[in-house]
Amino acid sequence: MYRSVARISQLSSQSVLRSIRANVAVNRINITPRLASTWASVKMGPPDAILGITEAFKKDQYEQKINLGVGAYRDDAGLPVVLPSVIEAEERLLKSCLDKEYAGITGISNFTKLAADLAYGEESIVLKEDRLAVTQTISGTGALRIGGEFLKKFHPSTKILLPQPSWANHAAVFRSSGLQPETYRYYNKETIGLDFEGLIEDLKNAEDGTAVLLHACAHNPTGVDPTPDQWKQISEVVKAKGHFPFFDMAYQGFASGSIERDAFAVRYFVEQGHQIALCQSFAKNMGLYGERVGAFSLVAESSEEKARIESQFKILVRPLYSNPPIHGARIASTILGDAQLKAQWLAEVKTMADRMITMRQLLKDNLEALGSTQNWDHVTSQIGMFCYTGLSGEQVDELAQKWSVYCTRDGRISIAGITSGNVKRLAQAIHEVSK
Ligand SMILES: Cc1ncc(COP(=O)(O)O)c(C=O)c1O
Repeated sequence: MYRSVARISQLSSQSVLRSIRANVAVNRINITPRLASTWASVKMGPPDAILGITEAFKKDQYEQKINLGVGAYRDDAGLPVVLPSVIEAEERLLKSCLDKEYAGITGISNFTKLAADLAYGEESIVLKEDRLAVTQTISGTGALRIGGEFLKKFHPSTKILLPQPSWANHAAVFRSSGLQPETYRYYNKETIGLDFEGLIEDLKNAEDGTAVLLHACAHNPTGVDPTPDQWKQISEVVKAKGHFPFFDMAYQGFASGSIERDAFAVRYFVEQGHQIALCQSFAKNMGLYGERVGAFSLVAESSEEKARIESQFKILVRPLYSNPPIHGARIASTILGDAQLKAQWLAEVKTMADRMITMRQLLKDNLEALGSTQNWDHVTSQIGMFCYTGLSGEQVDELAQKWSVYCTRDGRISIAGITSGNVKRLAQAIHEVSK
């Protein structure tokens, strides 16, 4: 028998004690001391570098503060954007009253087909010959992880070379897949550009048959991409060494405004006969960040090999998350599968890319107008959402403390955080800390 809380509160403390003792005696309640927590030895992990910036930004009370840490597109008013093509696709989906049944293990087949068309080009030989193994993934990160798991299980080398620097999550994803991430030279601090000689030398010196991660376009975090001619030379070295080209394409269309131009490296490698791996994300180019829409594909030698690879994709996916989410993939396939809606989306992608190109130019113009004697050419020659400014960690700290301008300590700024309203103040802040 239990007494209600109200009743107990009416009792004197003595009678409460008596009552508890009586309960213990009658009901033989075991009053055991609390055991040490099972998780007592779990250590506090380090905070995420980017989220830490957002936290500091949120705490800052200054009205004209600027957040350049965020890796998501913002419009010229600094607000998140849902593309009109996405809204239209969602309206169509709502009207069609689709059920919410599970997708297959490798996702919605219409989506994976259209995603492959977009990346490889509808006329691609690997699509015509039906030798592309594809699976829908939990956005680009999920694609990298499935790729990592596949390499660990089936690729002879357990190493994967990453550009130095690379997106912070790459090493963690591949390490979690059981691979050993190592690096090849990529960025030259002196020129604030590509260390092409270093890159080629490191690929040549790597053990034959090593997996090499390549950012297909809009390298994150530097914004520095190889030129088409440099890609051709990279392809030759990769081929001569029997390396395995593993592409991460998180920004197709978002970099230059052209789906075709941004897919150059991927399509060129395929034309050259490489059996590439490709990770795709629709987070940035469709603004579907939280919907987690992506794909992982592997070029096979034959249709029969493709079938074997896809059977192994299923064996990897099933115990991880069983099957991928459907809503975002339906949005993407509604857009990609309708000529008029696709054309509208392509125009919207170009608008986003163009806004970032304009902001780069405005930032450079403002820095020059303020009399900065430094060379800011890299601001406009780099591509995509991120710009490696060349600012030091100390300069970044000063930006935050004196100017309420927040970015990562490697000097990377998100161009998406710049607006025509804040670019002047930003240029002034950068100029003052870099004088
Ligand atoms: C280079 C690169 N790869 C992959 C991703 C994965 O993004 P998501 O998992 O949101 O698609 C990102 C996101 O910022 C990225 O910059």
